[in-house]
Formats: sequence, C-alpha cells, structure tokens
Amino acid sequence: MDVDEDILREIDREIQEIKSRIGIDRKTLNEVFDRPTLLAFGKLISDRIIEYVDFPISTGKEANVFRALSPRGKLIAVKVYRIATSNFRRMIYYIQGDPRFSTMERNKREIVHQWVRKEFKNLEILNKLGIPAPSPIRAWKNILVMSYIGDEYTPAPLLRNVKLKRPRKVYDEIMGYIERMYLDGDLVHSDLSEYNILYFDETPYLIDLAQAVVTEHPMAMVFLWRDIKNMVNYFRKYDIEGDAEKIFDEIIKKGGEVA
Ligand SMILES: Nc1ncnc2c1ncn2[C@@H]1O[C@H](COP(=O)(O)OP(=O)(O)O)[C@@H](O)[C@H]1O
Ligand SMILES: [Mg+2]
Repeated sequence: MDVDEDILREIDREIQEIKSRIGIDRKTLNEVFDRPTLLAFGKLISDRIIEYVDFPISTGKEANVFRALSPRGKLIAVKVYRIATSNFRRMIYYIQGDPRFSTMERNKREIVHQWVRKEFKNLEILNKLGIPAPSPIRAWKNILVMSYIGDEYTPAPLLRNVKLKRPRKVYDEIMGYIERMYLDGDLVHSDLSEYNILYFDETPYLIDLAQAVVTEHPMAMVFLWRDIKNMVNYFRKYDIEGDAEKIFDEIIKKGGEVA
C-alpha cells in the first residue's frame, strides 16, 4: 500500500539521518545499534541531549560506552546496553528487593530498560551525596547519557592504570565513599574494584552503578563486604594494610546507631 510505503521510506530516511550523527565505523554501528537502539538515539537527538557520537571509549561484556557531544558542544558519555548480550538473570537478581522497581517484568528488553534506569537513579544518589561519579543526564530505553569524565584528549584512566602519588589519600577517600553511600544513600556499589573507578583531577570517581543495590537487598551485606575487601586487597600494592573486617564492622555499627 502506498501509505505504508511512504511511512517506511520516512522511517528509513530518519534512520539514515540518525546514522549520520554517529561517527563510528560501520561494523560497530551495525553490531551495537539495532533498529530500536537507533530509534532511541533518534529520540535523544531530537530531544537535544546528543548532537553527535564521537568514538567508542569501551566495549564491555554488556555495554558499549561512547564519547559524544551535546548540542552545546559539551563532552558527554553514552552507555549503550546491547540487548542481545545482556545477562537478564543477573540483572533480575540485582533488581529484586529494590523497592524502586518491580521484578514482575520478564520482557528482556524491558529488564534492560529497568537496568539503565537503575544506573541512572544510583548515579543521582551519588551526585546528591557529593560523591564523585558521572552526573546522570538521561536514561532512555537501553541508553544512559551521563557527564564525561576526562579531558578533550582522553577519557580518564581506570584506577588500575595509574600510579598514585598519594595512595593513602585515595584509599581513605574511597573508603569514605563506601561508608557514605551505605549510611547516607542506603546503597552498596556491589561491583567495586580498580576497574570501576576512574581517576581524574587527582580524584577517584565511581562508575558502573547499575548493579548497586539498596541496603535492604538480601545480599547487601555480602556485597558491602566484597567491595571493602576488593579495595583493601588492591591497595596492598601500595603497602597499605587495611583491615577489611574492622572497616566493615564500623560501618555496620554506625548504621545501627543511625537506625
Ligand atoms: N562517564 C564516563 N566518562 C568517561 N569514561 C567512562 C564513563 N563511563 C564509563 N567510561 C569508560 O567506559 C568503561 C566501561 O564503563 P562501565 O560503566 O564500567 O561499563 P561496563 O559494564 O562495560 O564495565 C569504563 O571502564 C571507562 O573506561
Ligand atoms: Mg565496569
């Protein structure tokens, strides 16, 4: 039918227009951006959140992160979850017990959308607490837009790839973040390691917040312990002998006093 073909041609034109705003190679474009993802990009472009996608920063197990530009010329980071390679069972596991979300959702695409909104809300909490982390800008479908950590030449390096001049200070800061997140934000990062901390302007920034759980999650204590332990282990290479058990107990004790 004529009308349908017109609409299809219109959508194709729109998709071509969206693709022209993505300055990355065809292979990545086709691997990461299925049609629904391209249309989600289209919405972010027409809402004037994204002007242009620059280049890939990272290709992870579930998501690709790109550097992009806002219409005002500001650098931003865009994290795109690939529906096809997402681990839904793991996502559901970390969503359960979170009063902000329903776990009734069993549609795979919708679970990923929840996951993106969860990362957004968790970043909001960190921002409110003044804990260095990307500022969330927009969560839409499987795309999270946030502030970019880095300078115009390179994104900030991971903690694991820098040689700290004042490791004790950074160690104390990170332990302080863990404590404040727990006591004031009711949140446990749950995947904290030298791979999920960026180091920029002599400041550690926490990233990758989707799996962070609220303290009422059945595994919150186990995750809190693991986060602390990971950090204590990492800082051994700087000859810092942290006492994970003591740090954990103190946080829990303070939490008890607050409650
Ligand atoms: N806001 C950001 N600014 C700059 N680089 C970022 C930002 N967010 C993520 N990255 C880069 O992308 C990589 C992957 O991001 P992350 O959120 O950890 O996703 P993954 O689930 O793939 O581990 C990070 O290691 C970091 O190098
Ligand atoms: Mg990560």
